[in-house]
Amino acid sequence: MASILKMNLSGKRKQLYEGSSKILFEGPDSDTIIAHFKDEVTVASTNETIAVAGKGALNNRISEYLMLKLDSLGIATHFIKNINMREQLVRRLDVIPLQVVIRNVAAGDICTRFGMEEGVVLPKPIIEFFLKSTNLKDPLVTEDHIEAFGWAGAFEMEEIRNIAIRANDFLTGLFLGCGIRLIDFKLEFGRSFGHDFEQVIIADEITPDTCRLWDMKTNVKMDQEGVKLEGFPPDKGYLEIARRLGILPETSNVEELYS
Ligand code: CDP
Repeated sequence: MASILKMNLSGKRKQLYEGSSKILFEGPDSDTIIAHFKDEVTVASTNETIAVAGKGALNNRISEYLMLKLDSLGIATHFIKNINMREQLVRRLDVIPLQVVIRNVAAGDICTRFGMEEGVVLPKPIIEFFLKSTNLKDPLVTEDHIEAFGWAGAFEMEEIRNIAIRANDFLTGLFLGCGIRLIDFKLEFGRSFGHDFEQVIIADEITPDTCRLWDMKTNVKMDQEGVKLEGFPPDKGYLEIARRLGILPETSNVEELYS
């Protein structure tokens, strides 16, 4: 712990990657990474980045909470521990280059693709796979592509499907219990190597940046789409999600997150 704090204060850490919502740094050991959650949202339509004060701290807490809940069900994740308000220590994995989207209600890309109306409840949860490739704009891929091109094996895909369905069942119920509809969400996976076996585990983050979350009564978008489309300050969406999950006291506001 002391060495992590020292690294944070000195700022002398090797940056591995910077994305729209996180920066990844080398961790204190060769098999760990530090994920730093940024206060920014990227608007998909214009690629513009908007600063949203407090978002990094909220996402760090929300992802910690959801990953630990999944872990308690026996669903392994890369999360190890939070190390400060906006950073967490995670396991370094061999990343599977897929975005796995689980949909309960039609919204976003599936509406565009099939001309569906937003908000239609799907007859069953639908799992879709997208190749992680910014250059190719993350195209939709089939399991045949995934196997044929070696992005993941048949056994790994079975594991990924099972985990995605279990996580969806659990998270849908969890959010339902606090008046929120889980419309869809994205998971990423990686391979973790034990002594003589490989395990597929959940990587990346589970936050309102990677989930569509609508208020049950009003259908107001409480997630990143709400920030993008409706210009919410985080205390109208992300903060409310954290409060309803019971992660923050009723009275807290974004400023208190830093005190
Ligand atoms: O959000 P968009 O319409 O661009 O794509 P989608 O395929 O409808 O997104 C489905 C879900 O995956 C939403 O909850 C997104 O927030 C999430 N997602 C993500 O976290 N990262 C991406 N690069 C794409 C989608």
